[in-house]
Amino acid sequence: MAKLLTIQGGKPLEGSVRVRGAKNLVPKAMVASLLGSEPSKLRNVPEIKDVEIVTNLLTIHGVTVDVEPETGDLTLDPRQMRNAEHSEIDTHAGDSRIPILFCGPLMHKNGEAFIPDLGGCRIGDRPIDYHLEVLRTFGAVVDKQVTGIHITAPKGLKGAKLDLPYPSVGATEQVLLTAVMAEGITELKNAAVEPEIHDLIAILQQMGAIISVNTDRTIRIEGVDRLSGFRHRAIPDRNESASWASAALVTRGDIYVHGAAQRDLTAFLNTYRKIGGEFEVDDDGIRFWHAGDPLKPLVLETDVHPGFMTDWQQPMVVALTQAHGVSIVHETVYENRFGFTEALKRMGASIQLHRECLGSNPCRFGQRNFLHSAVISGPSELKGTDIDVPDLRGGFSHLIAALAAQGTSRVTGIEIINRGYERFIDKIAGLGADVEMTGR
Ligand code: EPZ
Repeated sequence: MAKLLTIQGGKPLEGSVRVRGAKNLVPKAMVASLLGSEPSKLRNVPEIKDVEIVTNLLTIHGVTVDVEPETGDLTLDPRQMRNAEHSEIDTHAGDSRIPILFCGPLMHKNGEAFIPDLGGCRIGDRPIDYHLEVLRTFGAVVDKQVTGIHITAPKGLKGAKLDLPYPSVGATEQVLLTAVMAEGITELKNAAVEPEIHDLIAILQQMGAIISVNTDRTIRIEGVDRLSGFRHRAIPDRNESASWASAALVTRGDIYVHGAAQRDLTAFLNTYRKIGGEFEVDDDGIRFWHAGDPLKPLVLETDVHPGFMTDWQQPMVVALTQAHGVSIVHETVYENRFGFTEALKRMGASIQLHRECLGSNPCRFGQRNFLHSAVISGPSELKGTDIDVPDLRGGFSHLIAALAAQGTSRVTGIEIINRGYERFIDKIAGLGADVEMTGR
């Protein structure tokens, strides 16, 4: 029988949880180790599905990945690197988008790379056109085949001037992982500057790369011939921290998030205070709690860093169903990230979706056929229901809605949540939730 999580809602979540390294950095750091000529050590690694997927992908390329049992620290040794069969890559890529970031390192080391059909959360079309365009500009030859994309660099890879149409995180990482060992200078304009990007740059610099970041989103990289290894502690997962903070608000609870870092959550904390949440920062983490007063509605617009991050949107929407009044959420990063509201509406939430840009900044999706704005009226009393998890953040949002709801919810498809939330069932049980897991 498939795994089923049964939740008796209505209890505030109270206590503490620990967040470890960022899901959106750790797998990329593991890929960076491929560029090294010596072993690397990565600390603060969470036990999540995406780490498992990249461990398998590195292993089939001849990298040894040793896990220290107590700490979960990884030692990654690329000295026996080799090519992998396309079928092997396809098998191990699973439901992740990470394989596309292997391109630069594999072309530098093996002269070729293969990208299978990519997965990732169904929150938009998620094309890879920027990735392929930057690789071609470095001199790569992109050959689209039935089973995937085969990429070679017959004349090597040369530094280039690049200007991204949109500050894509993935495409910026693609440029970083390729330009560091390309011949000459690369200048990337309109780059992503998320905290995870800065942490990846810190790792590459440790290995011997020369990278500078200007305040106008321009990143300049001077290619080098050889990179060593790195010893690095991954930045904490700001998305998991924000998710637990929203859980405290929605369940009228009080949660201390060990490992949460204020510097990466500025936009989130401003919104949290505006809606009526309270927080307290100390050296080891942040305490989040519901102050007891009615939550206040607000107008929220997602954006690239340093704006309000799109991965924080879904848990915050659940909190806004409990606010007294009408809130507006304009999603500007992904065109289709409100699918999860169907289940919330079944639970009793009042949410209407719109194609217009309902925020102050018209976005790429305006005038196109995407339901990317939401009008939320509250407060609504949520009632338990049956839920099938649609995507990672949508799934976690459903969990916190079910925890706040009156009655029983039965949740299937929870494996998806394992992709980015370490031991989340133990954590919610540890916070006093009434949950039961059945099936295998
Ligand atoms: C990363 O995805 C994160 N994933 C996402 O987190 C996060 O939402 C996103 O960055 C934005 O911050 C990982 O790091 C593994 P993008 P990524 O390239 O790199 C469009 C989560 O829940 N685009 O910045 O795939 C794209 O469709 C996940 O943890 C193109 O059009 O995001 C999207 O609309 C979800 N062509 C926008 O840019 C391209 O070639 C931003 O995508 C590439 C992107």
